[in-house]
Amino acid sequence: MSHAPSTYIAPVRVLVVEDDPMVSSFCARLLQMKGYTVRTAFNGREALDILQTHQFDLVLTDLQMPEMGGMALLREMRNHYPDIDTIMFTAYATVETAREALKLGAFDYLTKPFSVDELERTVRRAVEWRRVRQERQRLSEVIALYEISQTFTSTLDTETAVREIVELLWRRFSPAELSLSLVHPEDNELELLAHRGASSNATVGVRVPIHQELCCDALFEGHARLVNGPQPVDPSHLARLVLRSNDRPVGVLDLIRAPDQPGFDSDDRTLLAICASQIAASLDNSRLYRQLKQQNLETIAALAASIDARDPYTAGHSLQVMRYAVRLGEVIGLEKERIEALRYGGLLHDIGKIGVPDAILLKPARLSPEEMDIMRAHAVIGVEIVRGIKALRAVLPIIRHHHERIDGTGYPDGLSGDQIPLEARIMAIADAYDTMTSDRAYRRAMSQDEAIAELQRGRGTQWDADLIDRFIELLNAEAHQLRLPHPRAAQVAPDQAAVHIPHIALPQF
Ligand SMILES: [Fe+2]
Repeated sequence: MSHAPSTYIAPVRVLVVEDDPMVSSFCARLLQMKGYTVRTAFNGREALDILQTHQFDLVLTDLQMPEMGGMALLREMRNHYPDIDTIMFTAYATVETAREALKLGAFDYLTKPFSVDELERTVRRAVEWRRVRQERQRLSEVIALYEISQTFTSTLDTETAVREIVELLWRRFSPAELSLSLVHPEDNELELLAHRGASSNATVGVRVPIHQELCCDALFEGHARLVNGPQPVDPSHLARLVLRSNDRPVGVLDLIRAPDQPGFDSDDRTLLAICASQIAASLDNSRLYRQLKQQNLETIAALAASIDARDPYTAGHSLQVMRYAVRLGEVIGLEKERIEALRYGGLLHDIGKIGVPDAILLKPARLSPEEMDIMRAHAVIGVEIVRGIKALRAVLPIIRHHHERIDGTGYPDGLSGDQIPLEARIMAIADAYDTMTSDRAYRRAMSQDEAIAELQRGRGTQWDADLIDRFIELLNAEAHQLRLPHPRAAQVAPDQAAVHIPHIALPQF
């Protein structure tokens, strides 16, 4: 590592600008004896030339010099080198010159002739003040960074969290390449979550197996395989970290700077280490949240299956309705949260049938008006069952209104047109189409063409006209992929069971 260890304190670099050789060498010698690195310039012009190519912490400058005096130098430095502190010498100390020098940003002034003690004391105070100021700056930077990084630990959605993490790191550390991968401990795999920078052909979402134990070397090696890009020659240009949460590795973060950029210094590395713990917590939270959501969905799918299972003819109905509804939502461009509501709504729309007696639910004939009333109550009962689950609040209108009709003659509320929530209008179509194309105790299933003709007959009266058009387009394009194979359910492979629900364990119908 070429970066300095943290205990190393670099000597303070001082530029003495003085046309009097006696004063200049007196200052230079004294300050060198005290451990400062010193250079001298004859006047302001020469000082500016030196400043262009060399770094300094402090400039001591005379007021009166040929070509360019101290005040002009101060003005230039305020514009171009605001971080360098200055001390002014003057043989003509008046209140005015002193005030003007301080106004231009000078730290202090010394009146000639000055003693060894005066010079040493003033320089020491300037250096000390500079150190405190830099510490404060660094601290406020760390706090700002910490605050920003804390905001993404509260983000549970991985995509958003990753986007925020990448943005923050890119802005603060200006790397040429940045990559972030996530450990999937259950599969012993590493997934590339994000990559920014030009020089690799990395594909986000790709996973690689980690064959050994999840140690640093194995993770770095796996990450390098994912990124597949050039590695920096100089180790100071690479910042590579294993992200840990609760003492477990959750991912790998890689930042690379280009050869023409400065390397990562110890401040960069400290800041990055602070950020890393927040990033790790954020990734871990969103992974757990995703897992929890998956488990919820599986539980709900099993619950829906148990309702469908009461009637052999409705096996797999909820799953199929979910599939149609989600896809229709996707093609009309609904946002992620609403698609999510359709997913749960599809599985749960008939959950209220738990409250309908078998004698009515399984009756192999048309229902009497009284029986029909009991059957219709399922929309309201469903809402009562799910109402207590906070996370499913968006699903309630779908459950309640999936039997409303556009012309206002549906139930339970007789809503019409746009009064019916969009997701419920989608669900009504998905539900009706699957019912029509499935066998029932009292009739055979309709063919796809017959069912489409039926949908067209109810276009604008029973169902939303625009949605019917989009749904028919969808069926014409992908009915085969959308339809679950018969017999549905248990035999269906997980990836066919649900659009975009990875790893869903299919319920037994
Ligand atoms: Fe229903």
